[in-house]
Amino acid sequence: MTTLRRTRRNRPAARHLVGLAALALTAPLLQSCGLFGGDKLVIYNAQHEQLIEELAPAFEEATGIEVELRHGKDLELSNQLIQEGDASDADVFLTENSPAMSQVEAEGLFDELPSSILDTIPAQYRPESGLWTGFVARSTVLVYNTDLVEESELPDSIMDLADPEWAGRLTFSPTGADFQAIVAAVLELEGEDSTRDWLEGIKENGTVADNNLVALEAVNSGQSDVGIVYHYYWERDRAEDGDLHDSSEQHYFTDQDPGAFLSISGAGVLESSDMKEEAREFVEFLVSEEGQQILADSYALEYPLNPAVELGGVKPFGELQPPQVNVSDLDAEAVVDLLTEVGFL
Ligand SMILES: [Fe+2]
Repeated sequence: MTTLRRTRRNRPAARHLVGLAALALTAPLLQSCGLFGGDKLVIYNAQHEQLIEELAPAFEEATGIEVELRHGKDLELSNQLIQEGDASDADVFLTENSPAMSQVEAEGLFDELPSSILDTIPAQYRPESGLWTGFVARSTVLVYNTDLVEESELPDSIMDLADPEWAGRLTFSPTGADFQAIVAAVLELEGEDSTRDWLEGIKENGTVADNNLVALEAVNSGQSDVGIVYHYYWERDRAEDGDLHDSSEQHYFTDQDPGAFLSISGAGVLESSDMKEEAREFVEFLVSEEGQQILADSYALEYPLNPAVELGGVKPFGELQPPQVNVSDLDAEAVVDLLTEVGFL
C-alpha cells in the first residue's frame, strides 16, 4: 500500500482545521454581541462548501434570515457537536454522508422535524424517527482508465476489488467520510467478517489517496487503473471541462451491489438551538422545490431528493440500482473501529 498526497487543486483539510479553530475562538463573541446586526442562524456544514454557499444567499434573500456557515468534515463536526452538547452555537447540522447524522441522533441532540419538511422527501431517504432528513444523494462509482481497463474486465461487484487480479491497480481514500460511508454500507450489507476481509484485500491491492480528487487524478493519469469515488467528482470535472476525466469513464455497479450504494447527505435542527423556528425554515427551504432546483442547477451534480426536481446531464436517478440500506443502520463508529483495526486510520 502506498499513499498519494493531495495536489494544489485540492487542499482543504488543513485550511478547514485552522479556520475552524479560529472561528471557535471568535464566533461566540460575534454572535452573542450581534455585531452583524442581530442573531445569525449558525450552520455547522460538512457538505462541500461551494454547494451550500450557492444555496445560503437564496435562503437569506427569501427569508431575511442571516446565515453563518462553519465548515468542517462529517465526523469532525459530529464529534464537535457531541462535545459541545447543549452549549453548542449550532442551529442546523448538514453533512455530506448520513453516518455522522446518525451519530448525532444517537446522542439525542436533534429536535424532531415537522411533517411539512418530512413529507417532501421519500421515506427511504430519512430515518423513521423524523429527527433529520436527507436532502441530496450521491452514487458510488468505480472510475476506470479507458486505456488500461477493458469494459469486459470491470468487476460485477465492489467486493471483487479485494481479489488478487486487482493487485496494484486500485486507488481510494479511506480517511474521507465519503469512502467511510461506503464501508458503512458494506458492513451493513455483508457483515463484519466479510467487510474486514474486503478491507484487508483492498489494502493489499490498493493505493491510498488523500482525497477523492487525488484518486480521480491517479486514475485519469494512468497511475492507477480504477478508483472508488462518488459520481459527482468525475461529472463535475467533465462539466467544468477539467483535466481529470479525459482518459477515464465511470462504471456504475448494478443489481443492488454494495458498490451501487447511494449515500445520503443529511440535515437536522439541533435541540439546543435558540433559533429553532428559523432553523426549521432553513431545512424547509433546503428540501423545497425552490431550494432543490438551486442545487440541481448548481455546479454540485448531486441528486436532489425532492421528487419534484430532476438532475439533468448525469445518469438519471431512476436508472441507479442501489441496495436497500436503512439510513439509521449506517454506523460511523463501527467503521472507524474497523478501519483502525485494518490499519487505514
Ligand atoms: Fe464528497
